[in-house]
Amino acid sequence: MAQISLTVNGKVRKGSVEPRTLLVHFLREELLLTGTHVGCDTSQCGACTVLIDGRSAKSCTILAVQADGSNVTTIEGLAQNGDLHPVQQGFWDEHGLQCGYCTPGMILSAVNLLKDTPNPTEQQIRAGIAGNFCRCTGYQHIVNAIQNAAARLGARNSAPDARR
Ligand code: FES
Ligand code: FES
Repeated sequence: MAQISLTVNGKVRKGSVEPRTLLVHFLREELLLTGTHVGCDTSQCGACTVLIDGRSAKSCTILAVQADGSNVTTIEGLAQNGDLHPVQQGFWDEHGLQCGYCTPGMILSAVNLLKDTPNPTEQQIRAGIAGNFCRCTGYQHIVNAIQNAAARLGARNSAPDARR
């Protein structure tokens, strides 16, 4: 067994894992953060997407030991003080989900996209979520949700408090 220590949603979490344990299984089974989903066994669906050191990554493609020392954000870590993250709010406002299975991964991929591209075109949004599959909604509501989130984040970042 290997000892690991990583920061998850702002808290230091330690664990003892087999070297073959995937990060997604450590998050779900050891830390009980079941918002990170497993939708495939082929690294394709993106349901397991989290942020590692601020960048999106499929947590089923990474060993828990590889994440040792890193800073991980899961869907459970996005809302702050009871307020939804602007991307979560965008999905709520635009009905960007149906069953919700893909949603945590979609949202974290969108957070990553909007960090690099604050005002994405529809084409850039579709490219940004190309690694995430949704089997329910069709993608138009998801695209609308990310456009809504981009507008919210833009408004937040240009608010007087944000400029200080
Ligand atoms: Fe990770 Fe599908 S569960 S890509
Ligand atoms: Fe069901 Fe996307 S909302 S898979």
